[in-house]
Amino acid sequence: MNDLTSLMRPESVAVIGASNTPGKIGYAVVRNMMSSGYKGEIYPINPKETEIAGLKAYPTAIDVGKPIDVAVICVPAKATLSVAEDCGKAGVKFLIVITAGFKEVGKEGRELEEQLVEIARKYGMRIVGPNVLGIIDTHTPFNATFAKEMALEGNIAFISQSGALCIAILDWSLKNGLGFSQFVSMGNKADLNEADFIEAASHDEDTKVICLYLEDVVEGDRFIKVAREAIQRVPVVALKSGVSSAGAQAASSHTGALAGSDTAYSAAFRHAGILRATTMTQLFELANAFTTQPIPKGKRTAVVTNAGGLGIVATDAIELGGLEMARFSEDTIALLREKMPPMANIYNPVDVIGDAHYDRYEIALNAVLLDPNVDAVTVLLSPTAVLEVDKVAEVIVEANRKHPEKPIVAAFTGGFAVEQAVEYLKKHGVPIFAFPEEAVSTLIGMTEFAALSEATHNGEEWVFDDVNSERVREIFDSVREDGRDLLLSPEAAEVAECYKIPAAPSRLATSEDEAERHAVEMGFPVVMKISSPDIMHKTDIGGVKVGIESPEEVREAFRSIMENSKKAAPEAKIYGVEVQKMMPQGDEVIIGMVKDHTFGPMVAFGSGGVLVNLLQDASFRLARGLTKREVDEMITETKAYTILKGFRGAEPDDIPAIAEAIGRVAQLCRDFPEISELDINPVFAYPKGLSALDIKIKLS
Ligand code: COA
Repeated sequence: MNDLTSLMRPESVAVIGASNTPGKIGYAVVRNMMSSGYKGEIYPINPKETEIAGLKAYPTAIDVGKPIDVAVICVPAKATLSVAEDCGKAGVKFLIVITAGFKEVGKEGRELEEQLVEIARKYGMRIVGPNVLGIIDTHTPFNATFAKEMALEGNIAFISQSGALCIAILDWSLKNGLGFSQFVSMGNKADLNEADFIEAASHDEDTKVICLYLEDVVEGDRFIKVAREAIQRVPVVALKSGVSSAGAQAASSHTGALAGSDTAYSAAFRHAGILRATTMTQLFELANAFTTQPIPKGKRTAVVTNAGGLGIVATDAIELGGLEMARFSEDTIALLREKMPPMANIYNPVDVIGDAHYDRYEIALNAVLLDPNVDAVTVLLSPTAVLEVDKVAEVIVEANRKHPEKPIVAAFTGGFAVEQAVEYLKKHGVPIFAFPEEAVSTLIGMTEFAALSEATHNGEEWVFDDVNSERVREIFDSVREDGRDLLLSPEAAEVAECYKIPAAPSRLATSEDEAERHAVEMGFPVVMKISSPDIMHKTDIGGVKVGIESPEEVREAFRSIMENSKKAAPEAKIYGVEVQKMMPQGDEVIIGMVKDHTFGPMVAFGSGGVLVNLLQDASFRLARGLTKREVDEMITETKAYTILKGFRGAEPDDIPAIAEAIGRVAQLCRDFPEISELDINPVFAYPKGLSALDIKIKLS
């Protein structure tokens, strides 16, 4: 682990490019450091000044002559290399490089950035940035940014790839009362990246949730490893913007065409246990909820409302979002029956009805919180003339305090009439919204995180030790020696056999005798196809014969396929004729693999056959670290699953065999990183077993 303690809790900070001129960044950073309440030493560095903001200024970092943990660099880009050298010589541990004009501006900037990294390496310094707003740690306290204000003290660690976004969020958070433990702008990530900051924040005792804004991820494997460890202690929520290049490189395969531009990030976040927010609003709503409310232990949600309509809207959102309406215990129902008026609805949603005063909320809320069948509560309110809205807010805060094990979210729908109560709830850490769906959406996110986190506890990579990787290596070597990157069908079928992925037997025949021998060995009927990487539409040129039943027909088919192919494509390199056992029809699925630049191979499963691209029914997971549980989820997520489990009275297919085949494909792709694309389409699924019909393997 990289120890970032001296970065987040430094004992001394130098500001290189500190200035006495208001409006300059070097001016703002020194003032922010001083006004943040920072208790360590601050050394302004400026060759022209002797004093800055009442502090002694030094010409260079070397002249300080005392240990410096962090140097904040705010000199123009062309001066950064020499000041970094000075910092190295002065024994600085971390550089926060605010200066812009590096890789984000093109080739020259990129070279400058590389030189900066080189200097840092030489002296064992670590870099934040360049091109950053800086860093805040509210508990140190420490504000090494040029933001207008210091963040409020709180428990959210916000780690952002965009500095300008940091500034905006900081200002917004002050108005909305959201507090942070750490505020990190990562900029160009020339050295330290999201994995380092997630790791550091997850060990920070003042952090209760890690909130990420990412445009890309630098080290895929490390990011996942670090995040999986981090979520054992704190939830991690991420907003990922921008489209990645995932899948694009393999768009020539069926699987590649099924993978969307963002599939890899979704798969990676899920495997890492990171909760993905889809909007910025959601990112901060979830962050706020995780710092103020406990994580729900299950999906059973109670609703308390004084307006039937709001209750129905919430019920819909709960059910559509994958939560469940709690079924109350008999005790709860008996209590509500006794205390509520006869017109009230005492089942979930509990409707205390329009003439309710705050005391009905108090009774209902405490009753459902005590109910063992309830995991979380949503309180809804419409501000009637008879209701003491502020009192209801107090009741909620008190109930939340008395039952710290169950989360409460609220929606007070109204304007001026609810304003004060909303402020009160915000101040006391109850997530409060204007509308029921928003409140429910936060509970859905929290519950999803609970499930993600649980999944990361359960599961070792699914590994098979009965595979023959030596033979696969030989096959790949011989394909390369032959100057190809695409395996012939019989070669691909043999690779599958080596990994015990059941494939329709397929052999290459270079003569009529050989074709007959193969056919007799595998048993009739067989299919025969021309074997040539240069001939695409084999059927169209008479290069395919199906339903061959006898040795005579095999010989005849061999002759005609060779003749037709030579005539249609005289230049094509022909390896012979492929003899494949003709398999009985099964339900058609696809198993495949597509590669992502950052996260490596992703396996896919879905509806297969000729309609594969039309159906667009596929689920993806990372091949690395793939667990049995993830494979089972992959299958059940697809529409193909409806067919496999026995549609309209049909006998169910062998789903465990399909799961195993997916696991084995994942292992093949992990073992051989040179496989750049893999498509098995169709796979025939049967009530007992399966058969891979058409296997395409491409090497990089
Ligand atoms: N050592 C110490 N101080 C030095 C120096 C050196 N080698 N070279 C110059 N300085 C001093 C300057 O004299 C000046 O101090 P002064 O005001 O007393 O004259 C100070 O450092 C700043 O230099 P200056 O040339 O005035 O630059 P600037 O303040 O106009 O711009 C940056 C510097 C870093 C702000 C600018 O280059 C930049 O990168 N701006 C964009 C920052 C950004 O957007 N970052 C991303 C945010 S999300």
